Amino acid sequence: MRILGIETSCDETSAAVVEETGDAARPWAIRSNVVASQVPIHREWGGVVPELASRQHIADICGVVERALDDAGTTWAGLDAVAVTQGPGLVGSLLVGVSFAKAAAAAAGLPLVAVHHLAGHVESLVLQNGELPRPAVVLVVSGGHTSLYLVEPPGHFQLLSRPREDAAGEAYDKVAKLLGLGYPGGPVIDRLARVGNDRAVALPTTRLTHVDRNAPALKGDLDFSFSGLKTAVLRYVRRRQQVAPQGSSPAFSDQEIADICASFQRVVVKVLIDRTFDAARRYQAKGIGIAGGVSANSRLRAELELHGKQREIPTFLPSVALSTDNAAMIAAAGLRKFRAGVTAAMDLNADAALAME
Ligand code: KG4
Ligand code: ZN
Repeated sequence: MRILGIETSCDETSAAVVEETGDAARPWAIRSNVVASQVPIHREWGGVVPELASRQHIADICGVVERALDDAGTTWAGLDAVAVTQGPGLVGSLLVGVSFAKAAAAAAGLPLVAVHHLAGHVESLVLQNGELPRPAVVLVVSGGHTSLYLVEPPGHFQLLSRPREDAAGEAYDKVAKLLGLGYPGGPVIDRLARVGNDRAVALPTTRLTHVDRNAPALKGDLDFSFSGLKTAVLRYVRRRQQVAPQGSSPAFSDQEIADICASFQRVVVKVLIDRTFDAARRYQAKGIGIAGGVSANSRLRAELELHGKQREIPTFLPSVALSTDNAAMIAAAGLRKFRAGVTAAMDLNADAALAME
């Protein structure tokens, strides 16, 4: 069984071919995974411009899909299905992938499979490591999401927390913008933090204890919010600029910037790790995974491993390439659904706020 995956939810146009291996413990093999990043286009504007993103997806999608088929040494005739990200994401971007996938599936006479973007991120852990020991607690942490899931049967996700206000990746991007470090913020803060003092700036770790009125069924104490932390960095920067001696430049030295990055990153990683291990304890998880763009972060990766060893619980990460948006994870999640007999109708529509089933 072999599937083509298509991902266009944000600012990466990606197509991949993933195949079944026949080995239940390591079910998927990546045959190709082509990613055309739009970062250079959006960098100029300091963040993703949705209209530019959709236009670029249209320009890139045919070439990216052809390349994915070529790299995999296959053709449309060698495929069993087409999987596509239905949501969540930017609606204009999602529509390009969904429309392309529907047209391609209809033309090639292939079944269509709709994939939730976050189910794709969870599947990146299986692509990298094989099936996780279950129940597993998985944190998906990206530009738009900071969500904890309990994965009991594979492919089924119970939401344990909700992001309130800023997601972790968004906080990285906003803090980087504030410090004039450009877009996307994650990789540059990660790099500068390595030479900074992570105790130089005192920043708060907010813990939400109240129930979210929009999700009363969840207790709320595993929820994440990074907007307070982002505001604390903003206040620190403003205060420092105000006390700069008259006539002197309020700009920070490279070392001060590195110190702010390191202090911010220490708090983000602490909050993510603490809450994820709390959830693992509460739900008696046999394994912990962290996926999504922010799982590329070097400190988060190191601390996950360290805490897992200390608490004797196996931990899992995708490779750095599989952390950020890519179609291989969408193809794998699609293959799992297809195997379970779930396909989409030809009236499938993109859904910017799609809920995880
Ligand atoms: O999963 P992803 O590629 O797209 C979404 O689904 O949102 O995640 C993108 C996010 C961006 O906010 C980016 O700043 C962050 O992942 N990111 C990182 C790192 N690399 C990417 N954050 C922290 N450290 C990194 N090394
Ligand atoms: Zn993503």
